[in-house]
Amino acid sequence: MDTPTVVSRLRAAGCVFAEDEADLLVAAATTPAELDALVERRVAGLPLEHLLGWAEFHGLRVTVRPGVFVPRHRTGFLVDVAVSLAPPDPVVLDLCCGSGALGAAFAAARPPRELHAADVEPAAVECARLNLPDAHVHRGDLYDALPSALRGRVDVLLANVPYVPSDAVATMPPEARLHEPLVALDGGADGLDLARRVAAGAPGWLAPGGTLLIESSERQAPVLAEILAEAGLSPRVHSCDEVGATVVTGTAKP
Ligand SMILES: C[S@@+](CC[C@H](N)C(=O)[O-])C[C@H]1O[C@@H](n2cnc3c(N)ncnc32)[C@H](O)[C@@H]1O
Repeated sequence: MDTPTVVSRLRAAGCVFAEDEADLLVAAATTPAELDALVERRVAGLPLEHLLGWAEFHGLRVTVRPGVFVPRHRTGFLVDVAVSLAPPDPVVLDLCCGSGALGAAFAAARPPRELHAADVEPAAVECARLNLPDAHVHRGDLYDALPSALRGRVDVLLANVPYVPSDAVATMPPEARLHEPLVALDGGADGLDLARRVAAGAPGWLAPGGTLLIESSERQAPVLAEILAEAGLSPRVHSCDEVGATVVTGTAKP
């Protein structure tokens, strides 16, 4: 199959960036049969990143395995905010790390003294270990996964937790709804269940002056800022219109 044929098959299936995707699939396939299989699976709705085995995130190529959340372009803004707030030689925690994309991007921009990452999903933990070979990658429910020696020492707590309200999951694009685990998407009734738990636990793990960063929708941001304030953190809302991202930070007392 030549590239124009791949483009027209992808376009007929509704792929918005058919030309770009065709180039990537043609480059990834080592035989015509493999290309045919990749195009078939893409046309059937599998995320491009799961087919390629990687996603581009914040200038990095991050390994993404099937069953692992695909890091979104907009979340690069959370990394930018984190880098801008981080002290020198920070201790960094990527909580709900998925592939570990945020930790990897942060480390590429600002090498940390210590990097920890954690997720509840075995596939995510395995994937994060590939992307974060120099980090400590833990498995478990939020802070339960972490070594107690990390308590009170985290300067930067990256937390892109699930924040889609349960009712809205059904309206997500099939790529996400059918091919990413529900636990990576569903944030409960108002989407902020996980954020509440992360905020409540954060003061025990943050270093003095340390900052928790959580991505949310624009609509959720004022509620999330209140949640962080109730947890004893000083909240601030950051927005980037260019990529459509909202990040709420909560900073511990110095
Ligand atoms: C929206 S995805 C974000 C992944 C990654 N931070 C990123 O931005 O690419 C949320 C992640 O949270 C994880 N997760 C959900 N509930 C969790 C829990 N109770 N404890 C730890 N991780 C959890 C999911 O497995 C998923 O990998």
